[in-house]
Amino acid sequence: SWESSQTESTTTNTKMLGYIWHYFYSSFLRYIQKWLIRQVTGTCELQRICSGYQPGAARTTRAEYSLRSSKSKVLRGALETSKDNLGQSVDQVMKEKSIKPEKDPQFKERFHICLLQITGYGSLYASVEDLRTVTFSSDNPKHEAMLFKLWDLLMPAVKLESRITKQWGDIGFQGDDPKTDFRGMGLLGLINLVFFSENYTMEAQQVLSHANHPKLGYSYAIVGINLTEMAYSLLKSGALKPHFYNTVQGWPELQHFHQLYCYLAYEFDKFWVAEEPESIMHFNQYREKFHNIVKAHLQDPDVSLTLTVSSGN
Ligand SMILES: *[C@@H]1O[C@H](CO)[C@@H](O)[C@H](O)[C@H]1NC(C)=O
Ligand SMILES: *[C@@H]1O[C@H](CO)[C@@H](O)[C@H](O)[C@H]1NC(C)=O
Repeated sequence: SWESSQTESTTTNTKMLGYIWHYFYSSFLRYIQKWLIRQVTGTCELQRICSGYQPGAARTTRAEYSLRSSKSKVLRGALETSKDNLGQSVDQVMKEKSIKPEKDPQFKERFHICLLQITGYGSLYASVEDLRTVTFSSDNPKHEAMLFKLWDLLMPAVKLESRITKQWGDIGFQGDDPKTDFRGMGLLGLINLVFFSENYTMEAQQVLSHANHPKLGYSYAIVGINLTEMAYSLLKSGALKPHFYNTVQGWPELQHFHQLYCYLAYEFDKFWVAEEPESIMHFNQYREKFHNIVKAHLQDPDVSLTLTVSSGN
């Protein structure tokens, strides 16, 4: 058994060496390849990416990879630039790679947009995280006003009898005070609900009417808050990059995240109605299935998760 463990560790070592060799060999090959192409074409990889690929995820994902795997500190540093220093960072990269604006007049603008999208994504995540960590507070008049606004947008014909009331159940909150329902999503969950109701009032009311179906229904607000978590975790993992690279040709703002939530809220409802689950008890399973569909869309380099209202409903 001593011998067999000796052979085992020798095999493991050989394997390890194989991996290390493979790693150096492939990065060496990549280096040689880039160098050769540069000699022949007189352009660097970033220039070829910016001229050879369509704007959006096709171009920006490649530019991001190229910067991240670069040997140059200036190029890797560009990924950490703040919005105010972005112009400067573009100039530094051009200087570092000896890119002449006379020879490649479109590069600067194109690369600038890539860098806005790449660094903007991180900044968007930070803004979303800031809202998520704000706890809903009944002592904050702004928070309270948003809650009442949500009610008025969804139930324009019905007056709330009081602040604490079972009526909240009619828009899918759990108890008689919504403040306990935001849980891990904080103010972000409420802002998304209000954004959807304000900007897509007809659609939100239509979704609510499905949610209030006696047999096929679900808790509108609770599921909405749950879909905020889906949007948040997709953003956090980086899975939403291709979507934002394709749909925002510059710096992404919070409203773009809220728009994505609207897509999820609207599409989840369509999915739920089509699937006809036996009851809300199966929520987990259908949420998982829907989540997988969304993740599959995000594998498509042309992905664009935008709410398109189907007329005639
Ligand atoms: C509705 O959308 C616009 C632009 O997308 C945004 O400025 C506005 O704040 C949104 N409404 C709410 C309540 O968030
Ligand atoms: C959303 O639903 C899933 C599945 O039921 C659950 O694991 C998760 O904790 C929920 N998130 C929120 C914020 O309610």
